[in-house]
Parts: sequence; C-alpha cells; structure tokens
Amino acid sequence: MGLYSETIFPWLLDRALGHPNIMARRRALVAGASGAVLEIGFGSGATLAFYDPAHVVSLTVVEPSEGMNRRAAAHLAGSPVPITSVPGTGERLPFADASFDTVVCCLTLCSVSDVGQVLAEVRRVLKPGGRFLFLEHVLSDDPDRQRWQHRLNPIQKVVGVGCNLNRPSAQLVRDAGFTLDPMPVQEEEHGFGALKKLTPLVMAAAIRA
Ligand SMILES: C[S@@+](CC[C@H](N)C(=O)[O-])C[C@H]1O[C@@H](n2cnc3c(N)ncnc32)[C@H](O)[C@@H]1O
Repeated sequence: MGLYSETIFPWLLDRALGHPNIMARRRALVAGASGAVLEIGFGSGATLAFYDPAHVVSLTVVEPSEGMNRRAAAHLAGSPVPITSVPGTGERLPFADASFDTVVCCLTLCSVSDVGQVLAEVRRVLKPGGRFLFLEHVLSDDPDRQRWQHRLNPIQKVVGVGCNLNRPSAQLVRDAGFTLDPMPVQEEEHGFGALKKLTPLVMAAAIRA
C-alpha cells in the first residue's frame, strides 16, 4: 500500500472519471442491471446512485484497494439498493456458482492482473442466461493509435496503478464464451480526457450461455 496508489490515485480518479460523459455512460450501463447484482472493481462507488431499486434486489461490490474502499464507505449509507461491500479481487470471487443475475464491470477489466481469470469467475458466478454488463476502454481498431497505446502503456500502468491502455477487453469477453449485445454508442463520444483518442470505449451486455 502506497501513498500514491491508496490516497492520491483514488482522489485523482474521482476527478478524472467524474466527467459528465463518463457519468452518463455509467448511468446507461447500470440501467441494465437487475436481480442479484455483483459489481467488480467498485472503486469509490461512482455507479452506486444509478442502481434502480425497482429492478435491483441486492448489490454486492468487490474492490481490492483500501483507499478506494475508504472513499466508497462514505456513499454506502445512502445506497438506493441493499448493498454489501466485500474486499477482494475479481480473480477470486468468494461466491458460490450461479449466485448472480447481473455482473457489472465499469472501467475495471483494464486494471485487473489476470483478465482471463476474472472473466472465468464472472461466468462461474453468473446464473445461466445472466448478463455481464461492461464499460471499458479498449485497444483501438486504428493501427496508428494502437502503436501509441502500446508505446504509452508502460507509463499508463504506473500512473494508472495497473491500468492498461492496450487491452482488447471486448474481444477477451467474447473469447471467454459470452455472446455480446453492444449497446448503441456515438463514435464521437468515445474516450475521455486528454487520452481521448487512446481510450476508445466499448459498452456491452454479454450473455452467459
Ligand atoms: C479505473 S478504476 C474504476 C473504478 C470504478 N469502477 C469507476 O467506474 O470509477 C479500476 C478499479 O479496479 C480496481 N481493481 C484493480 N485490480 C482489481 C482486481 N484484480 N479485481 C477487482 N478490482 C480491481 C481498482 O482498485 C480500481 O478501483
């Protein structure tokens, strides 16, 4: 645990990812959640206000960072849905098979250590027919942008505490055996901040067969 990763980075992230464009996408993502819901990589709780108590029976959130959990704790009392916060990682989810109707990842697959293992865990804990909702910045389709994503990735991993600019997360979700139903997105709205061209966003609902 370091001062940067556990105190400064969580504070920075709230500012960087609190952009209205990103908040609108979080709202659209979480609008698809229903039943027993798990969110992996909850961060400081930026999605929490958007969970709809008319559809969400319970929300379980998993987050490994103590600094993020400290920031999130302030929001838990005002949660619109019954919530349980569990420290831990997406690679080892402490839940039984087929426990959830919906799993949510919002800007998290870029940062996990072993994305294949996280996706295997998502499949395991989802009920058959359950939905995996994700919003992620991904490897660009454009070869020039890809080159910059690869070049800058070592710096991004340090500054972003493990965040990768060059992860083909949507493809990795397909490779993990999910069927993708992409939500409509406007090309010009992709990406955020100074890294806009290097952080194209994909938002999708993936169905667990
Ligand atoms: C870019 S932040 C996004 C946080 C939040 N989902 C949001 O939308 O603001 C990435 C989050 O993933 C968390 N994370 C990193 N490694 C993880 C892992 N192995 N399992 C679960 N979460 C992880 C980080 O601690 C951080 O909170």
